[in-house]
Amino acid sequence: MSAFTSKSGESQRRRYAIVGLGSRHEIYQDAIEQPYADRAQLVGLCDSNVARVDLARERSKKNGAVVPLGYVAADFGRMLKETKPDVVIVTTADFMHHEYLVRAMEAGCDVITEKPMTIDAEKCRQIVDARRRTSRNCRVTFNYRYSPPRSQVKELLMAGEIGEILSVDFHWLLNTHHGADYFRRWHSHKQFSGGLFVHKATHHFDLINWWLGATPVSVMAMGKREFYTPATAKRMGLTGPHERCHTCPEKDRCGFYMDLAAFPHLKALYLDCEAHDGYYRDRCVWRPDIDIEDTMNALVNYDTGATLSYSLNAFNAWEGYTVSFNGTKGRLEHTIVESTYINGAETVQGGIAANGVKTRIIPLRGAGYDITPWTAEGDHGGGDRLMLQDIFAPDPSIDRYKRVADERAGAWSILVGIAANRSLQTGAKVNINDLVPGLERPDYPPMPSRTEPLPMPIRVK
Ligand SMILES: NC(=O)c1ccc[n+]([C@@H]2O[C@H](COP(=O)([O-])OP(=O)(O)OC[C@H]3O[C@@H](n4cnc5c(N)ncnc54)[C@H](O)[C@@H]3O)[C@@H](O)[C@H]2O)c1
Repeated sequence: MSAFTSKSGESQRRRYAIVGLGSRHEIYQDAIEQPYADRAQLVGLCDSNVARVDLARERSKKNGAVVPLGYVAADFGRMLKETKPDVVIVTTADFMHHEYLVRAMEAGCDVITEKPMTIDAEKCRQIVDARRRTSRNCRVTFNYRYSPPRSQVKELLMAGEIGEILSVDFHWLLNTHHGADYFRRWHSHKQFSGGLFVHKATHHFDLINWWLGATPVSVMAMGKREFYTPATAKRMGLTGPHERCHTCPEKDRCGFYMDLAAFPHLKALYLDCEAHDGYYRDRCVWRPDIDIEDTMNALVNYDTGATLSYSLNAFNAWEGYTVSFNGTKGRLEHTIVESTYINGAETVQGGIAANGVKTRIIPLRGAGYDITPWTAEGDHGGGDRLMLQDIFAPDPSIDRYKRVADERAGAWSILVGIAANRSLQTGAKVNINDLVPGLERPDYPPMPSRTEPLPMPIRVK
């Protein structure tokens, strides 16, 4: 998906359009207009909020690029006709991804979408069908795969260090800065985000699918919202909930107050654009109308026979995760402590510091040993930078981990969360194949064989 060669043999820049011009789109705009400007050009910008369209066009000026044409959402089709992009990048709120992906593919464009690919089974079917019908390329940007410590875990598992993997324990913790942020805006309603089982856990279920080289078969789940509630606000001595932080009468007393006006970037992107669409970036985290969970558990079966025990908690004392793989030759334990993240503010998530990563292998018998972690600096543990390089200047020969993800990986990861949401409603185990039948397996690199002879563990005297 980078520069390509025309019939006359000369190298041309690929033409990109972006729809959805909030904070996340910026990494793509900046990548196209700065480090990859010799291979890519931005020709169209589209958003439902006209002020954010203007802001993004201003950004092009600051990037020293030719300013792309801007369009409001109702003119998306016109944008495709007039600007003729080769690739459309979709970075809208989750519930609209499917519509732009399908329309762009139908118009002959390749597409790149932010995670989650979409939020429910019907929308997922529409994307998968459109991809098959149009034969266009659909890429899902799973940046977590690219962060070096997570690629290193893939390397260790592929190399058979712990044999074949029979079960996994995976626990993801969001602290009360990052975690609370999902309860402030569109993420806090399932109809817009699918809840954290889809919106957030798509990263986690994709990592597991990819680490194991497996596809999920069935899911059972439990979940509740017990922290971000009006009752917790009362117990913390507030009289609220109120509508939002910006006008909150208790801003001096609430430890969850977010001052949009204090961060120039957040102010410009959200506060100053509100008049056009009423999108408040700082709604009260204690509101009663929130309908997503803050505490989730799931049990998942995989086609390799492996099983997963997963949890996600959104009000934790620290941010990061711990995952343990139980294999036929031993156990791999991997923990990452991440730093605080407030989307769009100055305090973005930093690189994963070497001392925040712990990867350890414990053979069935004998002493365990620590693995020196692969690390990198930059957002999302260094994953964003490597992923952008792989999008705009790819070298497939060096990707032995097959980190490029398409709509199949996008679907398999969200379907675990979509099945979990259904299991929450029914209390029953949900089969993934009942949600989107006939979904193909992604192209995973080979994993250790399940039939090769196993070494006999040494006898303990
Ligand atoms: N991979 C990652 O680590 C990562 C990190 C952050 C966000 N994301 C994803 O990026 C996407 C955007 O997230 P964000 O934080 O930038 O959100 P945001 O709310 O800041 O931006 C969303 C944008 O979509 C626009 N929009 C909403 N409805 C629209 C419509 N119908 N048509 C056109 N535009 C519309 C909004 O006006 C807004 O500008 C989400 O899917 C999110 O999950 C991924």
